[in-house]
Amino acid sequence: MNKITVIGAGNVGATTANVIAQKDLAREVVLLDIKEGLAEGKALDIWQTSSILHFNTRVTGVTNDYLKTKGSGVVVITSGLPRKPGMSRDDLIKTNAGIVKEVTEQVVKYSPDAIIIVVSNPLDVMTYAAYQAANKAPNKVFGMAGILDTGRYKAFLADALDVSPEDIHAMLMGGHGDTMVPLPRYTSINGIPVTELLGPEVIEKIVDRTRKGGGELVRLMGTSAWYAPGAAVAQMVEAIVDDQKRIFPVCAMLKGEYGLKNLYLGVPVKLGKEGVEEIIEISLNEEEKKLLKTSAESVKDVMKVLDDMKLF
Ligand code: NAI
Ligand code: 2OP
Repeated sequence: MNKITVIGAGNVGATTANVIAQKDLAREVVLLDIKEGLAEGKALDIWQTSSILHFNTRVTGVTNDYLKTKGSGVVVITSGLPRKPGMSRDDLIKTNAGIVKEVTEQVVKYSPDAIIIVVSNPLDVMTYAAYQAANKAPNKVFGMAGILDTGRYKAFLADALDVSPEDIHAMLMGGHGDTMVPLPRYTSINGIPVTELLGPEVIEKIVDRTRKGGGELVRLMGTSAWYAPGAAVAQMVEAIVDDQKRIFPVCAMLKGEYGLKNLYLGVPVKLGKEGVEEIIEISLNEEEKKLLKTSAESVKDVMKVLDDMKLF
């Protein structure tokens, strides 16, 4: 790919650009921020690792100059406030909705064909806001959360089982909040159901820790995470750039799947060069359906806050 843009050169944006460059996913990565000099500095710092870490992707930083993002194939939106201790992701909507709207309009003006991946929180509703601002097909506008949340789930399982995290396969659904729905029935260690290897109490504890995994890091660091989020976005970009047709949990627009419509929610999808190429409907038992419904309701509550802001 010729050009990938990352909006927001803060913790998540800079880490995303760094991983994309290290994976050599494009000829150029453009990092953009409103804070004067921040993107330029971080881009230069990343570019100066190229001879040490062996990559060719040029990393360029710009202060709010969208002309430099022109013709991007993929744009990642990370601009906006992160949460602080005591805040939920939903508390961020008042500030972040305006930022996401304005940024998306600029992105689309200069890169009308770009696939847009949203990261800003509250994720499911910010992805919806970007979709509204972009005026594009929903398969080209989607959000990152599920790969991060399953990454946390797999790390906790790898510790509990003392196995390689690479051998853990898992799916998770729902919104990027404490109502997310990890799915132990769809979790295996290279094909061995996790339920054969761990008891229900241990699994429940891991599921609970996963749901609150973002908050655990906010408490420890005073701001939210960036290494795993940046790596997770880069994995989505890689699937698109290399047309890998990977099956990932992604925040995608539902149009009747799982009995839900006109909202963005985490579901299993096939990710390739067209973006979300397919939404996969797996069978859920009554308990899982109930949990997914609760998660969808909590996303809808935040969507009402967005609607009341009358930005669109
Ligand atoms: P940060 O504060 O380190 O970086 C945000 C950057 O956005 C700042 O550098 C700021 O100057 C920039 N910015 C603000 N308004 C802008 C605008 N109009 N145009 C361009 N840049 C602008 O925050 P961090 O930690 O990078 O988090 C970014 C967002 O990602 C937060 O909303 C956070 O909650 C969210 N997040 C989402 C995750 C997910 O799984 N979806 C995981 C981690 C963070
Ligand atoms: C996270 O889950 C805060 O959404 C961010 O780390």
